[in-house]
Amino acid sequence: MPDPLLLLTVLAAVAAGLWAWRRYHYPSFWLAVGFPLMALSVRASWRRVALGCGLTKKRQRWWFTLTPGAVASTGLVKVRRRFQRVAVDTKPFMWLPLPTRYGWRVTLWTLEGQIPGDYADAAERLAHSWGVHAVRVSSPRPGRVVLMATMRDPLVKVDYLPPSPDLLKVTVGRLETGKPWVVDFRIVPHWVNAGATQSGKSNLANALIVGLSPQPVALVGFDLKGGVEFTPYAPRLSALATSRAESVTLLDDLVGLMVDRMGLCRQAQARNIWQLPPALRPVPIVVLVDELAELYLMADKSEKDEIARASTALLRVAQLGRAFGIYLFCCGQRIGSDLGPGVTALRAQCSGRICHRVNDPETANMTLGDLDPAALVSARAIAAETPGVAIVASQDGQWYRARSFHVSEQTAEHAARTHAHLAPRWDEITAHLPQAVNA
Ligand SMILES: Nc1ncnc2c1ncn2[C@@H]1O[C@H](COP(=O)(O)OP(=O)(O)O)[C@@H](O)[C@H]1O
Ligand SMILES: [Mg+2]
Repeated sequence: MPDPLLLLTVLAAVAAGLWAWRRYHYPSFWLAVGFPLMALSVRASWRRVALGCGLTKKRQRWWFTLTPGAVASTGLVKVRRRFQRVAVDTKPFMWLPLPTRYGWRVTLWTLEGQIPGDYADAAERLAHSWGVHAVRVSSPRPGRVVLMATMRDPLVKVDYLPPSPDLLKVTVGRLETGKPWVVDFRIVPHWVNAGATQSGKSNLANALIVGLSPQPVALVGFDLKGGVEFTPYAPRLSALATSRAESVTLLDDLVGLMVDRMGLCRQAQARNIWQLPPALRPVPIVVLVDELAELYLMADKSEKDEIARASTALLRVAQLGRAFGIYLFCCGQRIGSDLGPGVTALRAQCSGRICHRVNDPETANMTLGDLDPAALVSARAIAAETPGVAIVASQDGQWYRARSFHVSEQTAEHAARTHAHLAPRWDEITAHLPQAVNA
């Protein structure tokens, strides 16, 4: 008989050891202890969970049944044995769960008639059934669905990642999956960045300033908040407009540049500036717009023409800019059709969508468009305590929750000053534009 005191001491020591292991080296604890236990319980409870979440189907099966028959003269109950067709709840086949950085993932084989959307609809139920932070659904190929479970919100704290060395590519934060969140203007040329005040829009613009400053690109700012946001970065900006009147002039310059570059490409028989020989290739331009709505809001009728000019020029830049190395990043609280048809057309040209925390569901709708409804639910669930968290949709048709790295104004200002010598001068860029446009 072991000494109970000794037994208790050993148990306490084991518990303390496990606690310390979990506390001080969670990744190895998760792999060695947490994940295997989790995987076992997920497999063991899958039938019940699938049934509860409405992911099963009734199927006819031949079943061997024993049914009590008549009472025989001996007083014994006669049991009838026979095969019978009965309806059985069938669950989707589940592979073995695999550990991931923040939880686990598992592949399922969909049942007949099911689509990935059915699983996405059940994602919240699944998360609650398994006691995990969230379940995300993706479908690598028809007939298969991958469920990705995260144990806790990986975006509460995001670790910094090294900057990307590639031209026009900036690592601005992390995706929920742990992968870097990259804004790559060469793949997705134009972006909409929406969100309420204090949701992290400017922080993301700061991250772009920091990432693009050391690169051989021209940065152009439109700061319709009277310049309070971008003026500190002026040393690295090639041009800055702080009012609508200035914006109209600057946008005319940009349209002029585009037309000029069009001619250049045509002469060299190139489809875009990237097909030009490096010696001829004009400098790429990234246009950052803050408070986009200000460009469109009309106080009285006298502003109508100015707004129309700005709106048309911006739209032209968006439509043709990609091929000629002019890229847009538009930030705003609302980017809705209530601002006029110009905004709707502009939004249609922006394939990169970023939706920070928003006050009203319409803004999320307008920003994320016709994405999976789960993306909208996710956007509306972003908490005020986590500024910088956003729903991001871009080239691959998927959407992700992501969070930007915290980049303070001071950091961005420092980067702008440090790389001020890399800013191409606007009068040099526009030097050979016809005067009519340049004026
Ligand atoms: N990714 C982030 N991580 C931590 N703090 C952030 C992040 N993004 C923004 N913040 C903080 O949230 C506040 C609001 O951010 P800001 O970018 O100015 O919002 P907006 O431009 O949408 O009004 C700032 O104090 C900023 O430091
Ligand atoms: Mg801001």
